[in-house]
Amino acid sequence: MSIPIQGMSREKIMQTLEEYRKDDVDWRSGKVFAYTFSAGEEYDELIKEAYMKFLTENGLDPTSFPSLARIEREVVRFVIDLLRGGEKAVGNFTSGGTESIMLAIKTARDKAAAEKPHINNPEMVVPRSAHSAFHKAAQYFGLKLMMTPCHDDFTADVKSMREAINENTIIIAASAPGYAQGVIDPIGEIGELALEYDLLFHVDACMGGIMLSFMREMEEYNVPDFDFSVPGVTSISADLHKFGYAAKGASVITYRNKEIRKHQIFATTSTTAYAMFNATMLSSKSGGPMAGAWAIINYLGWEGYMKITREVMEASRRMMEGINNIDGLYVLGAPIMSIFSFAAENVNVFQLADLMSRRGWYIQPQFSNENAPHNLHLTFMRLNVPRVDEFLRDLAECVEELQASENQIDINAVHEQVQAMLESFGDDVVPQLLSMAGIDEGTSKLEGMAMISCILDALPRHISKALLVEFVNNLYT
Ligand SMILES: Cc1ncc(COP(=O)(O)O)c(C=O)c1O
Repeated sequence: MSIPIQGMSREKIMQTLEEYRKDDVDWRSGKVFAYTFSAGEEYDELIKEAYMKFLTENGLDPTSFPSLARIEREVVRFVIDLLRGGEKAVGNFTSGGTESIMLAIKTARDKAAAEKPHINNPEMVVPRSAHSAFHKAAQYFGLKLMMTPCHDDFTADVKSMREAINENTIIIAASAPGYAQGVIDPIGEIGELALEYDLLFHVDACMGGIMLSFMREMEEYNVPDFDFSVPGVTSISADLHKFGYAAKGASVITYRNKEIRKHQIFATTSTTAYAMFNATMLSSKSGGPMAGAWAIINYLGWEGYMKITREVMEASRRMMEGINNIDGLYVLGAPIMSIFSFAAENVNVFQLADLMSRRGWYIQPQFSNENAPHNLHLTFMRLNVPRVDEFLRDLAECVEELQASENQIDINAVHEQVQAMLESFGDDVVPQLLSMAGIDEGTSKLEGMAMISCILDALPRHISKALLVEFVNNLYT
């Protein structure tokens, strides 16, 4: 395929793009529990208008576009206020949670290089429940990641974190809450650990930063302190494109003070071009996401966020209760907000996800680990609110259907089969597994994920990682 010799008409372009998205998950239906965080059509239209107004403005140089510097300062101040950072706290607007977390780790590395030059091989300590962005940061920035276990309720085991700290440790991290089970780590205790060992402490509040701040105002939710009010917390990431309801490309990385943040900033005058400085990772960037975030924050206001938060929390609590009332299903841990997961005693949850998918629901399979059996994740958002009863009815029916079925995949049997394959093929097993899972070059829509999930669940981590790399490498061909 190459660029058309004559350009297409506007109508043809729009029609073709529309056609391209026919297989996408139908997030507008309210039957998808991942990926999108729309507060509703009215809000999306407003965001679009503000976003388009600044689509072409370039955040590369805030001195040429002081409008963007102002928008960024105001958005960041709003988040710092929620996170109780006070006058000294600072922050920047980023493209997402991953960038915010990666910047916090890069900042820690460069601060340590300046202030603790005897550390040649810096390390970070994070609980197993921490987001993959920490692993990515470790890989990109050359830190060693020490992963520590969680308790049976999925919270970080602080004693193990303490034991993992050594003379090379420069930063520790925890989640408020973690993605998988939606539980919040003991931020206060981990803050004490950070102070005791003179370490930076990053709180990943990408999911919870905005929503928990509003929930704190509602007595019934009993939100523990997780922000800058906790001594020892030195940086926090909070995403606006999640429960802040902004369009994607909107997160904030905040620091307790400028002395820490200065290690985030890049500047050079060494090239043949103009002087270059970047507060965050990207250089050229559209002003759209910032303007969209500014618009939704100001449109919703405190009252709007309180109203949506209450609505989402009430419906998600009803959803969790309903799931616990279905034979054999149970919600894992004590989720603090509206993201959670559930497991099943008597059915294969990966097949349950497939059955639900045939009825138009998207729920996310999660693999087993030392603390959790295989389970299904739901990020419950505003668009899901009207669907609770319908979801629970379909879920109960799918469980019954699966219980009565003779085709339940026995995960233990798959584990044994995979083990046998590993023994005969060793690490060269990846191509065999790809064909066993029915994945060819260019495959991007996976039908019937249950078997693939069972295989991934059974594989040693280094092989499942190689399999995923191969899958992605084939995807863009
Ligand atoms: C707890 C947590 N941290 C970080 C991230 C990464 O955010 P993003 O996908 O915006 O990069 C996520 C994404 O779901 C998350 O749930």
